Amino acid sequence: MEKLELRYEGKAKRVYATDQSEYFWVAYKDDATALNGKKKGQIADKGEVNNQLSALFFEEIEKAGILTHFVKVLSDRDMLVRCLDMIPLEVVVRNIVAGSLAQRLGVEEGFVLSQPVVELYYKDDELGDPLVNESHVAAMGWASDANTKEIQVLGLEINKILRAILVKAGIDLIDFKLEFGVLDGKVYLGDEISPDTCRYWDMETREKLDKDRFRRDLGGVEEAYQEVFRRVKKVLAKA
Ligand code: C5P
Repeated sequence: MEKLELRYEGKAKRVYATDQSEYFWVAYKDDATALNGKKKGQIADKGEVNNQLSALFFEEIEKAGILTHFVKVLSDRDMLVRCLDMIPLEVVVRNIVAGSLAQRLGVEEGFVLSQPVVELYYKDDELGDPLVNESHVAAMGWASDANTKEIQVLGLEINKILRAILVKAGIDLIDFKLEFGVLDGKVYLGDEISPDTCRYWDMETREKLDKDRFRRDLGGVEEAYQEVFRRVKKVLAKA
């Protein structure tokens, strides 16, 4: 597999063309941004953790019969993925109130929701990824009605898969963000599943083991990323 020209550079990843037009080469970076790009920094070895942890989660999600863009790991911080026609939405699933939901509803972080909440955000950096609903999506033509339903159902199914793994690692999955795309008329999970895109709290100590440590200057950022990776790897090695 040959890495060709850079096609897209995001905040946390570079995406390259390959000698096979149906695949992209994704290189995970250590760069970190928060507060809609206002806070910038580096998290040492984040690229390695996010690549390999995402790969582990993608494999488990595939085993459950859900299509993902993941093809294979190429190196510690590179993976091969299928090219998707991306749906410009972020699907956020929440089990426990934190972050923007705590602010929006005026509810304490840590409040346990009686059922998971699914939210849709329109992916647009300049607008700060605004919260939207299904009628916005339909009226703007961002996704078909069937695909809008499907990505929300998949979000809830993936929530169950991730929680089942993380509970064995002593981690509460507070919330997370997914992105989806379409290939040959079918919906695929894309992007990544990592401490950048999820909130993980230690079940016993309630310590944050995710990007909130960077966002909120809590220290121990690298250690938290490594700790999640170590625990998930151990759980899946036993499975
Ligand atoms: O900020 P908020 O509480 O809405 O984030 C919900 C979840 O989605 C968090 O796990 C956060 O890391 C993730 N997220 C993300 N990318 C964004 C917005 C949120 O990964 N652009």
